[in-house]
Amino acid sequence: MSKPIDNFHLLSSKQRRFILNNDEVLIDLVRSNMSERRFRHSLGTAELCKELALCHHYDPHKAWLTGLLHDMAKEIPPEETNRYLEYYDPEKLDEPDKVKHSHVGKYYLREKLHINDKDILNAVYNHTVLRSNDKLSLITYVADKREPNRGINDEVVAIARKDLKKAVETLINKWKEKHEYKDDALKAYLKDNDND
Ligand SMILES: [Fe+2]
Ligand SMILES: [Fe+2]
Repeated sequence: MSKPIDNFHLLSSKQRRFILNNDEVLIDLVRSNMSERRFRHSLGTAELCKELALCHHYDPHKAWLTGLLHDMAKEIPPEETNRYLEYYDPEKLDEPDKVKHSHVGKYYLREKLHINDKDILNAVYNHTVLRSNDKLSLITYVADKREPNRGINDEVVAIARKDLKKAVETLINKWKEKHEYKDDALKAYLKDNDND
């Protein structure tokens, strides 16, 4: 069954710009592309991205948009996920399934929504396994893991308001402490983040 996002490319450039510049309309489009639970998670991530951006002198709306869109590729079928990677990024075909959606998110947003902002695409690409140290990637990574709907009330958000890199280190150390994978943050992350 086709979704509104599949018809986005059929719109005029004026209509496409209207949607991308109108938060309420964009929110509806995102909602139509995922489960209600994931939509709530995306909105929560967007709001925390915005808050952290304001703390760190980053464009709050760009951060909000990145949070809102970060999981857009999470619910596309595995065959389609692999098709994107085969075409755009074959080296990532061996990544765990939970990680693939972040890589595919970059190509999906570019292709389906005509998002070309390199910072947004990079932060989406890196929101599972952080391999980028730019501010938007750090903000999105932390916000995704601690948005309020996850129900985890620890010190990470307070740390992130002051120091994003320290917040990332804190998250990784928590996973290492909790699991037997003492020196493999990726495996610990995968174990802890079913819903990301
Ligand atoms: Fe995700
Ligand atoms: Fe997420």
